[in-house]
Amino acid sequence: MRIILTGADGQLGHDLRRTLDQHDLIPFTLDDLDITDFSSVVKKIEEVGPEIVVNCAAYTDVDGCESNKVLAYQVNAGGPQNLAIACEMAGAALLQVSTDFIFDGSKGSPYQEFDLPNPLSVYGLSKLAGEKYVSSLTNRYYIVRTAWLYGQSGNNFVKSILKIAGEKEKLQIVDDQIGSPTFTYDLAERIADIITSKGYGIYHVVNGGQCSWYDFGKKILEIAGLEREVEPISSNDLDRPAKRPKYSVLDDLSLRLRGFSSLRSWEAGLVAYFKES
Ligand SMILES: NC(=O)c1ccc[n+]([C@@H]2O[C@H](COP(=O)([O-])OP(=O)(O)OC[C@H]3O[C@@H](n4cnc5c(N)ncnc54)[C@H](OP(=O)(O)O)[C@@H]3O)[C@@H](O)[C@H]2O)c1
Repeated sequence: MRIILTGADGQLGHDLRRTLDQHDLIPFTLDDLDITDFSSVVKKIEEVGPEIVVNCAAYTDVDGCESNKVLAYQVNAGGPQNLAIACEMAGAALLQVSTDFIFDGSKGSPYQEFDLPNPLSVYGLSKLAGEKYVSSLTNRYYIVRTAWLYGQSGNNFVKSILKIAGEKEKLQIVDDQIGSPTFTYDLAERIADIITSKGYGIYHVVNGGQCSWYDFGKKILEIAGLEREVEPISSNDLDRPAKRPKYSVLDDLSLRLRGFSSLRSWEAGLVAYFKES
């Protein structure tokens, strides 16, 4: 397949370059293609003539989105809108990556693809707006929602914990948000399966199981062989601008319905990440 990958320099983009390398892959970084620039998006997609565009470009600074609302909507809603229109014009499919932060966390059990979104933050609202553009403006789309990403490229929670552990004997980590930590390589592998299936629709793709940031942090330290004191704290103690869902575990019902296997457990994904590092 001829595939355009946008946001190719991000965490997930980095691993999709690896898992999609048997295809005719054209990776675009922000310098190559700004997805908020409608005429450039139309021109590039027309020139390349892909069968599918995989969009990993996003404004992912959740707290930054609260103070930069216009930019958040430009990139996370307007970007997918531009790509959806251009894909439809060029006869290409579109895969949009979305987030667990479209849910409010009040359900208390894992969210399925058919549960109603209710974002708590500008980031979540802008990503949901992106989903809506994609589903209303294209006939052939995949929306892949994922969560708590970490990978070899870019900054993430795993790298932050290791950095803080290198500086301090005691760490404080939030224990009242539960989610699905996901290794970008595992996600990228399943995206590679999904895009050849033609099973268009919404998918939740996360590593299995669930944990709090506190559990996740303790496991990172354990695998890294670092003995540190870890104090559980409340998210209120951090006073961050964006509200996060307390419980945003995703259930991968659509994957199972279409005969794909679920990803390995979050603990196994984390071990694999460390083996690669
Ligand atoms: N990270 C998570 O924990 C998480 C959780 C759930 C869902 N997701 C979703 O997963 C996807 C991938 O996330 P990620 O962690 O790989 O993000 P990332 O590392 O922040 O990568 C996003 C990439 O998009 C680029 N970008 C920003 N604005 C752009 C624009 N206008 N045009 C083109 N490229 C632009 C960024 O470039 P610069 O770095 O130069 O700005 C960056 O390379 C996103 O859709 C995100 O919403 C992420």
